[in-house]
Amino acid sequence: MDENLKRYIQLLPKAELHVHIEGTFEPELIFEIATRNKVSLKYNSVEELRKAYNFNNLQDFLDIYYGAANVLLYEQDFYDLTVNYLRKAHADNVVHTEIFFDPQTHTARSVSFETVVNGITRAMDDAKIEWGISSKLILCFLRHLSEKSAEETLKSALLHKDKIIAVGLDSSENGHPPGKFFHVFNRVREEGFFVVAHAGEEGPAEYVWEAIDLLEAERVDHGVSSIDDPDLLEELREREIPLTVCPLSNLKLKVVEELKNVPVKVFLEKGIRVTLNSDDPSYFGGYINDNYLQTAEALRLSRNDIYTLAKNSFLASFITENERNIFLEKLLNFENAFV
Ligand code: HPA
Ligand code: ZN
Repeated sequence: MDENLKRYIQLLPKAELHVHIEGTFEPELIFEIATRNKVSLKYNSVEELRKAYNFNNLQDFLDIYYGAANVLLYEQDFYDLTVNYLRKAHADNVVHTEIFFDPQTHTARSVSFETVVNGITRAMDDAKIEWGISSKLILCFLRHLSEKSAEETLKSALLHKDKIIAVGLDSSENGHPPGKFFHVFNRVREEGFFVVAHAGEEGPAEYVWEAIDLLEAERVDHGVSSIDDPDLLEELREREIPLTVCPLSNLKLKVVEELKNVPVKVFLEKGIRVTLNSDDPSYFGGYINDNYLQTAEALRLSRNDIYTLAKNSFLASFITENERNIFLEKLLNFENAFV
């Protein structure tokens, strides 16, 4: 790829809107925390663990991802995990990030909701001071669990309402449509949280319809199977519902055979508010700039396309209009000054 376009991507101010904090857990840190917490792992070394990162589908990945999360026990563990991600995001010129966390993965092991949230948000506060990076936190319900378990999780979240901007839905998609969580998301909206949902990653376009119509999701995570339904594409465009696409994730989980089949270019051409994100960067071979770089190369994206992706990331963020205007101005200033 053109060296100048590479530099453009590297320096471009951008927001990341789809990243699971447990998916930023690097093998070195997994072993470090496992050792200090005296938790045994199924793997004997960092190399052995990395070798297991060969996935045929979403479930293959989730099994390893939940296994690694088991070593997280104390507030400091969640702090270290989050600071590591924010350092990397800052290095990629991410100026704002909205981070997912999976509380049920931890509360099921008797780690308290409070421990998890306090560790993550203390890191977010420190990173704001240290690097100026802005961040928000999004709670995700695990969709392979029951709606009742999601309701209990929401109850814990209400005690930390000021620290959580939105609620989403992740984990094993097929067989767990958004509609399974209809009642709890009514409560989520009544409580004033924004709503997002993973839909149309491995699941069909119908699940994206359920996410936007039944859950009233303001943003759809992945959403790539929307490409199969022209009426849905028109609906997403008309309602300005953003998609948080994660190209390297789609490649590694075999949602697509080749990176060039991730429909980012078509979404752009149709005027859909598409964004690029890393999902679980420590498992999928790259942080956000790797996603921009490899997607730009595979799809022959223009500088204007890349600019639109970054602009969309700010348009799709859950921030105040004042904050949005500041980020958009920063982006425009960068664009005008870049040579
Ligand atoms: N899909 C569903 N659940 C997840 C993912 C994903 O890509 N990453 C972490 N949990
Ligand atoms: Zn995800």
